[in-house]
Amino acid sequence: MQTKLTGRLKKSNNFLIPCFGTIILSLFLSFSHISYAQDEEGPSSDQSIVKNGESLFKGNCTVCHGIDEVIIGPALRDIHERRNEEWIYAFIKNSQKVIKSGDEYAVELYNQYNKTLMTSFDFSDEELNAILTYIKDESSKEVQVLVADASQSIGDGQGGSSVASDNFYLSLGLNLVLLLIIIFVLFRFTNLSKKYVILKDNQSKGKLLDDKDLEIVENRFDFKKFLRSNKFVGVASFIFIGVFVKSCIDGLYTVGIQQNYQPTQPIAFSHKIHAGQYEIDCNYCHTGVNISKSANIPSVNICMNCHNAINTDKPEIQKILTAYEENRPIEWVRVHNLPDLAYFNHKQHVAVGGLDCATCHGPIEEMDVVYQYSELTMGWCINCHRETEVNAKGNDYYKKLVELHNSSSKKPMKVEDIGGLECSKCHY
Ligand code: HEC
Ligand code: HEC
Ligand code: HEC
Ligand code: HEC
Ligand code: HEC
Ligand code: HEC
Repeated sequence: MQTKLTGRLKKSNNFLIPCFGTIILSLFLSFSHISYAQDEEGPSSDQSIVKNGESLFKGNCTVCHGIDEVIIGPALRDIHERRNEEWIYAFIKNSQKVIKSGDEYAVELYNQYNKTLMTSFDFSDEELNAILTYIKDESSKEVQVLVADASQSIGDGQGGSSVASDNFYLSLGLNLVLLLIIIFVLFRFTNLSKKYVILKDNQSKGKLLDDKDLEIVENRFDFKKFLRSNKFVGVASFIFIGVFVKSCIDGLYTVGIQQNYQPTQPIAFSHKIHAGQYEIDCNYCHTGVNISKSANIPSVNICMNCHNAINTDKPEIQKILTAYEENRPIEWVRVHNLPDLAYFNHKQHVAVGGLDCATCHGPIEEMDVVYQYSELTMGWCINCHRETEVNAKGNDYYKKLVELHNSSSKKPMKVEDIGGLECSKCHY
């Protein structure tokens, strides 16, 4: 009997040692995520000017220009070697003026780019200098063939690190819990087995044991008996019923709610590329947000402003070109759908209320495919009207209302105070 027990103990050691090993290894691995090294930037003449130039360039020029890519306008690598500073600055300020002055180079370039108008920019000399310094700095770097892919992988890297840190805390937590459980079990087990050895010893010496001790010595774990025991059946059915009821309630609450609805669109249009990477203003395409009830989905013409020249050989762009030629609209699938009985107005919320698109639509500029970010239930509208203060900036009518409100109440004026909870405001 004794040998059997020590054998068992040994076996359990065989089992526990690799267990500890795995946990310590995975703890080590989780910690190694912390030291996440980041690439240093290359040397340059004046980092702050270059930085400033970079943000001006990205904010105003990347829609049409790359360093190595022809987008709508030419690639700008080594522009300072093609043209002198004076010419470049004049062209950025007002390209049409330079072209109309009869400058041969400018006229030829203009014709070469199908007479596409470059936007005029009202930059100071300092800003112009910063942009040019940035382009020079980029030009001094090695030719990057896949500009888009490179920036993508930088983005992925950052995403990766935040995911890694989430995973880190999760795995650290799980590991600690596992470790505690094992220490506890091991502790109980060694205590019991010590007692078992002593009792066995006593028994073999012929001492009488009381009932409790006998139970320890002769204990055999009966799995079948355990499964049939009242305790087990009780706990198991409690968990089962709990899970069942919870999922029923969740199901009932989501009837008619389309949150996260993400239909497939006829063209693989990506907000991540257009609004994110190229920072095109939402208003450029959704022309109604500031002036009307509806935000508007852009017509084919708006796409054609750029795609008569960009990526015309790609199959997804071919779809735009055909639709344009056949004078037929693209059949986008609506993502957001309030029922007809409810009235919602974009101008009221964006232009008057001063709300960001992201408050209601989430991080659209990170979405390849748009999904419905908010619940769009009546409770969602009402909650926000209860919590949000009226934006009275630059609105004399509201300023008077706020004064009136403040004379009778200590709380700030919320949307509910101007009638944001009245049924008739939202229901026809
Ligand atoms: C709406 C698109 C558009 C935007 C935005 C734009 N450009 Fe242009 N750019 C062009 C086009 C098209 C040309 C080619 C000439 C033409 O058609 O007028 C051009 C030409 C140029 C040239 C001459 C290139 C050469 O090879 O000689 C320079 C320099 C230039 N742009 C700089 C800029 C800078 C700097 C910005 C940002 C501040 C900018 N552009 C923003 C469209 C644009
Ligand atoms: C280059 C044009 C363009 C730009 C810029 C743009 N969008 Fe869009 N947007 C579209 C097109 C096309 C659709 C319809 C296809 C789709 O749903 O992806 C759309 C759909 C949407 C929808 C879903 C509409 C529905 O069907 O209910 C929302 C919300 C939206 N955009 C918000 C934004 C926001 C916020 C921005 C700025 C961060 C933005 N868009 C910038 C073109 C654009
Ligand atoms: C202001 C300029 C601009 C407008 C307007 C615009 N796009 Fe784009 N679009 C771009 C640029 C820039 C790219 C990225 C080119 C690249 O990196 O290869 C792009 C890429 C795309 C791509 C990916 C092409 C591919 O397969 O690589 C699709 C699809 C697309 N656009 C659809 C649309 C649609 C649909 C509209 C109209 C709702 C639209 N775009 C309006 C500038 C524009
Ligand atoms: C207060 C919340 C809120 C804000 C802020 C908001 N939207 Fe919306 N948006 C909605 C709701 C609600 C709908 C659904 C409207 C419907 O179905 O009638 C919607 C629908 C849309 C649609 C689909 C077309 C349409 O007009 O129904 C687009 C596109 C859109 N929004 C773009 C934007 C853009 C771009 C901004 C920022 C300039 C913005 N939204 C700000 C709540 C908001
Ligand atoms: C993120 C907050 C927010 C959400 C969500 C929101 N609203 Fe509003 N709403 C506002 C604000 C802020 C105003 C006040 C605008 C102003 O200054 O006139 C407003 C005003 C209104 C008004 C005018 C009220 C009045 O008395 O003039 C109506 C109608 C309205 N919202 C309808 C809706 C509907 C319908 C929904 C849901 C589909 C909704 N809102 C969701 C913030 C929100
Ligand atoms: C801030 C805007 C707003 C106000 C104020 C408001 N509602 Fe609504 N209501 C909505 C929206 C949006 C929906 C649609 C919700 C959905 O589709 O889930 C809705 C849905 C409803 C529905 C359900 C219809 C259905 O098909 O399920 C009823 C009933 C209703 N409202 C009654 C009222 C009454 C009564 C009041 C006044 C006490 C009121 N509402 C005030 C925005 C509002």
